[in-house]
Amino acid sequence: MARTRVTTPRTGRRPLIAGNWKMHMTHLEAIGLTQKVVFSLTEQDLDVAEVVVLPPFTALRSVQTLVTGDKLAIGYGAQDLSMHDAGAYTGEISGGMLAALACAYVVVGHSERRALHGEDDDVVAAKVRAALRHDLVPILCVGEGLEVRRDQGHVVHCCTQLDAALEGLSAEQVRGTGAGAGGGLVIAYEPVWAIGTGEVATPDDAQEVCAALRSRLAERFGPETAEVVRILYGGSVKAANTAGILAGPDIDGALVGGASLDADEFAQICRIAADVG
Ligand code: PGA
Repeated sequence: MARTRVTTPRTGRRPLIAGNWKMHMTHLEAIGLTQKVVFSLTEQDLDVAEVVVLPPFTALRSVQTLVTGDKLAIGYGAQDLSMHDAGAYTGEISGGMLAALACAYVVVGHSERRALHGEDDDVVAAKVRAALRHDLVPILCVGEGLEVRRDQGHVVHCCTQLDAALEGLSAEQVRGTGAGAGGGLVIAYEPVWAIGTGEVATPDDAQEVCAALRSRLAERFGPETAEVVRILYGGSVKAANTAGILAGPDIDGALVGGASLDADEFAQICRIAADVG
C-alpha cells in the first residue's frame, strides 16, 4: 500500500532506526527476530530508512550468516567493544573481532555501561577511537540523569559528554564519507531517566538537546560536518511516540531498546521512520 511521504528539513541524512537488544536473545532467537523484522518491511521501507539490529555478541555470527546469506537489507552491529585491540583482557571483544564479522556499528558509552561498568568519559573516548580504527561506526550515547535535568543542566551535560568523547578527532573522522554511506559516527541522545522507564522525553525536549548537540558539532568540526552527522533519540521509543519524536528537524532516527524485541512494534517504528524519511 502506497503511503504519503512527508518531507522534512533533514535532507541528506537517511533516517536510522537501531534496535538495542541488550542482554536478550540467544543466537537462535536472534535469527527469528531478524527475519521477522525484515519480512515485515517492504523494500521501499528498507531503502528509505536504515534499519539496524544490535544483538548480544553471541548472536552476531548467526545474524551475519543470515543477513549475508539471504542478502537482507538490514544492518547489524554490537553493543560494546574493548578499547584495546588484542591482549590479556579476559571477557573483552575487540573492534577487529567485530569488523571480522562485518559489523557496521557499535554502541559506545551507553548509560548502562557508564553506570554499571564504571565507564567514564576517558573510557568512552578510547572506545570511540577503537571503533574508528576498525572502520566501525560508533553510536555514541550521551544523556543526563534526572537530577541534572531537574537542575536544567541537560544541554551542558550532554555537550560536555560529546566534547570528551570526540576530543582530538578530525572532522573527517566525525563525518566519514557522508550520512549512512561510510564511516563517521552517529550520536544518540538518551536521557537516562527515559531509558526503560516508559517515561519518554517530549518531542521538544528531545529536539532541544539534539539541536544543541548539532550546534556543538558545528562549532567544533564545522557546519558541513554537523549537517551530515546523524543524531538519534533513545529512551522508551515505541511506535506510538515515534512520529512525534522524529518530527524534530535535528532528530534523524531512534535507538530503540525494549520495543526492538517485538518484531511487529519495531517494524512499525521503522515504517514510520521511512514515511518521514
Ligand atoms: P528503551 O532503551 O527503549 O528500552 O528505553 C533504550 C536504550 O537503552 O537504548
